[in-house]
Amino acid sequence: MTTPSNLIYVPPGKYQETRFEKIHNITVASESIGARLVAEEIAQSIRNCTNRPFVLGLATGSSPIGVYQHLVQMHREEGLSFKNVITFNLDEYVPIAPDDHQSYYHFMHEHLFDHIDITADQIHIPKGDLPQDEVRAYCQAYEDKIAALGGLDFQLLGIGRTGHIGFNEPGSHRNSATRLISLDPVTRADAAKDFNGLDKVPTKAITMGINTILNAKRIILLAWGQHKAPIVARTIEGTVSESIPATFLQEHTNTTCLLDNESTAQLTRSHAPWLVGDCEWTDSLKKKAIVWLCQQTQKSILKLTQRDYNENGLSDLLATAGRAYDLNIWMFNQLQHTITGWPGGKPNFTDDNRPERALPAQKRCLIFSPHPDDDVISMGGTFARLIDQGHEVHVAYQTSGNIAVSNEDAMRYVEVYQLALSTDETIDDIKKELLAAHQINSPRIRKIKGAIRRSECLGAARFLQLPVEQLHFMDLPFYETGRVQKNDPTQLDVDQTIKLIKAIQPHQIYAAGDLADPHGTHRICLEILMEALKQLKNEPFMKDCWVWLYRGAWQEWDLHEIEMAIPISPDQVVQKRNAILYHQSQKDRVMFQGEDSREFWLRAEERNRDTAVQYNNLGMAEYQSMEAFKRYYF
Ligand code: F6R
Repeated sequence: MTTPSNLIYVPPGKYQETRFEKIHNITVASESIGARLVAEEIAQSIRNCTNRPFVLGLATGSSPIGVYQHLVQMHREEGLSFKNVITFNLDEYVPIAPDDHQSYYHFMHEHLFDHIDITADQIHIPKGDLPQDEVRAYCQAYEDKIAALGGLDFQLLGIGRTGHIGFNEPGSHRNSATRLISLDPVTRADAAKDFNGLDKVPTKAITMGINTILNAKRIILLAWGQHKAPIVARTIEGTVSESIPATFLQEHTNTTCLLDNESTAQLTRSHAPWLVGDCEWTDSLKKKAIVWLCQQTQKSILKLTQRDYNENGLSDLLATAGRAYDLNIWMFNQLQHTITGWPGGKPNFTDDNRPERALPAQKRCLIFSPHPDDDVISMGGTFARLIDQGHEVHVAYQTSGNIAVSNEDAMRYVEVYQLALSTDETIDDIKKELLAAHQINSPRIRKIKGAIRRSECLGAARFLQLPVEQLHFMDLPFYETGRVQKNDPTQLDVDQTIKLIKAIQPHQIYAAGDLADPHGTHRICLEILMEALKQLKNEPFMKDCWVWLYRGAWQEWDLHEIEMAIPISPDQVVQKRNAILYHQSQKDRVMFQGEDSREFWLRAEERNRDTAVQYNNLGMAEYQSMEAFKRYYF
């Protein structure tokens, strides 16, 4: 057996982080730190293996891209050679041709093979275009090749939301081998963004089996982001079962899961650390524990007793913080003080116990909206209140959102224009381009699609009675690739953001703190803004600028994190819904639905209602709906 090189190696069978966790795991500060760690382990293992080829199992998808970037960099800068490596990929869609941009064959060449010293005969990727009667023998031959080389030395894995590893979907047998499978509907929905629509996602795949994977001598599974948190918790803490194939990794003694803070969110040590060990009781952790206790006991705050705390693993909190009565009152006040109908501060009232300052009474507010509809989806009620309460509201649409407009929608606008207004012959060319459904949107198609989204913003702004001159369309360059995969953000994006903030000199900035956005656009937009704020920190006007983060399109804040909660009346709920409905291109068959099958207006409405219900359950007044914010200190 190859000696694992072991930056992140843990002696087999000796791992126990908490009594709940059954797979060794490491939480890293960022995906890129984790990716480097994994790349370094792979590189070291390749270098250690001198007397025979190193057999490397590879994965595709978004999770391993960073690892491949680091490997390419190590090849270029440190001379890491792949001459002694034989690779086997986990899986491939069926049916798909290797030159299709969505094939894993294409993916692997784009991200790794084209940039390192590896030849075609060293690479194995299941074929997605075989005649059906050849598939069985082909899969057996794939297994035989791995076995003849002595098995996989290392297997890299991602994890699907169904708990699949490779494409071993729920129901896969522990002893399964390489074979043809049907993709789970959840997996197909997740792939829809890459294929430009669910109907274009293949229904089948060839995948290595669970047994093939478990025979690897070393396994590293990568999971990044909040959307992986539920499946990570079930995989690491749950019972081994075919219904979550990744749980079979609990039986493998040399597996490590590499996680970031978001993907660990539902492990017991993150969501209820008091059940795992001693805690340092910060105010934030106290709030988290008391909200959790209310949910466990189904009681409101003021009804919690000493016994409730003791019986639910919180005696330590009581011992540190005093009587249940005092803790309850403290928590009740904390929560009560987050509620305000005055998001811009209440003029002529003391602001001691309010989330926002009373002065200046008329504030300049700058709402950053990653896509052209997040402003109304995530904070449409607060947005309307700020306008009604006399503040000067500006909205900055960070990206054009052009790729989220379907060709069919764009065609409708082009056709109306042609039929009503134009005899221009180039329009026929544009229509041909739209019908051909290219994999990458050309600049002129992007322009049309971007304009459609702009006009939707203009409509919503007029509806909310906001002067359209106060809308700012930034079209940040990192987004303008014409396809789902975006460029890395650069100083150009940051500079544009700085320029706008300087021009407006806002007292309040609202921004999306939605880290679960599956395409990463919200995350990138937030990183750009944070960098801009860092660079602006010493500007005098910034001393007066408070930043509030909203969520809503993809997830909501946990209750203990909320620092400002704006109640929304039934009429305002309808007004918000109507503002969202101006974004017609994002209604019905939306291109990038994410993991939530509800339309945007509905998910926003249900999340806001749920926040109000949760406040009410904790003993606060009963509101129709609430939008929630957390302050960001820069
Ligand atoms: C890919 C594969 C899949 C993915 C999983 C996660 O070769 O076998 O199991 O690893 O679907 O995908 P991402 O990384 O895109 O979230």
